[in-house]
Amino acid sequence: MTVRAFRGEILSVPHDPLTNSEAIRHDPDGLLLVEDGIIVARGAYADLAPLYPNVPVETLPGLIVPGFIDAHIHYPQMDRIASHGEQLLDWLDRHIFPAEKAFADRAHADQIAGLFLDELLRNGTTSALVFPTVHAHSVDALFEAALARNMRITSGKVLMDLGPEGLADTPDSGRTESEALIRHWRGKGRLGYAVTPRFALTSSDEQLHVAGQLLADHPDVLMHTHLAENERECAEVAARFPDAADYLDAYDRFGLVGDRSVFAHGIHLSHRACARMQESGAGIAVCPTSNLFLGSGFFDFTRAAQHGLKIGLGTDVGAGTSFSMLHTAGVAYQAGLMRGHRLDPFRALYLATAGSAALLHIEDKVGGLLPGQEADFIVLDPAATPLLARRTAGADLAERLFALQILGDDRAIAGTYVMGARTGRT
Ligand code: GUN
Ligand code: ZN
Repeated sequence: MTVRAFRGEILSVPHDPLTNSEAIRHDPDGLLLVEDGIIVARGAYADLAPLYPNVPVETLPGLIVPGFIDAHIHYPQMDRIASHGEQLLDWLDRHIFPAEKAFADRAHADQIAGLFLDELLRNGTTSALVFPTVHAHSVDALFEAALARNMRITSGKVLMDLGPEGLADTPDSGRTESEALIRHWRGKGRLGYAVTPRFALTSSDEQLHVAGQLLADHPDVLMHTHLAENERECAEVAARFPDAADYLDAYDRFGLVGDRSVFAHGIHLSHRACARMQESGAGIAVCPTSNLFLGSGFFDFTRAAQHGLKIGLGTDVGAGTSFSMLHTAGVAYQAGLMRGHRLDPFRALYLATAGSAALLHIEDKVGGLLPGQEADFIVLDPAATPLLARRTAGADLAERLFALQILGDDRAIAGTYVMGARTGRT
């Protein structure tokens, strides 16, 4: 058995501060005791240290928080981040689909998968819900690379039978390949599967029906797709599904809306759709840098709170402009203000950790830094840059956290630990 102890300032937000007054857990001088990668005790150093006199203690300078959980990101788009000039549909055609076609080559997929996961770790992200491509082996490449790094990653072959030439599957191949991947990867490492129709416009009714059947046949998998992101997309969905009450309803008709469904964006939602989301337990991965980059709009945090919607935070790279969940949290605050909402820094940390974990149904495993959970954590350096050092000197916890979100990025990640083991990044 490997036992490790980490001493430092520990902060986590295992519950939503909007609805839970005890949501914030803060140990100014804390101890985290880890046995075989699992947290077995957490509390004040002065209380806990005498109970474990023989365990060597590693002192970590900085702020220890849970590893970030990115609730929506595309690994094949890593090298197309910062592609100029278009909104969603033209951006897909001009920049993204050509890049995804290159994943027909397994060696290319392997190479990008490794680079992608290392970039996540460098940014303090230890878990993610990831879009690969339509190619089944793009999932194998990602999962193999995740296993090698012991990361908690959920993904699933993209279903897109109406996709462009070179990127289209069929309802049959989509079903067979998804079934085979689910069978092959179930129970391996820290991996999870998500049935992943790209969005309503790239799947036929027949394929959306297949997606619903896959979910019904495999109650342990997630459903992951895009929803109500960009105005032109929404108009095209309304034209394609004239009988649907709204965009969400187009998915609902095929059994794709349930408490294991994760929808990226959800900017342009009707009240009916919000009520249906709430009733079903489906969640939204809010992706503020992407929403700004593609001119899609601003997520309505106030409306989401009124409806009690389950939300988490995603970068949505390559439409997102940063792998950093710190930076993404800072932009979420600014996007919130555009619609009159003041996102609290502790709630932003919740969304980037336990909130995303709840969307991914892994909240019992990670995100709260609580005993019984896996010891995925990072060390934030509030003095990572000269400006951060000046702004955080003498500041209280809320101010330091907010400054890290507004001014911080990968430079502020002093260390990333996966199941208690420091990763290669630092
Ligand atoms: N909608 C359908 N595909 C995509 C994608 O790759 N990125 C984003 N942001 N939205 C999408
Ligand atoms: Zn996306």
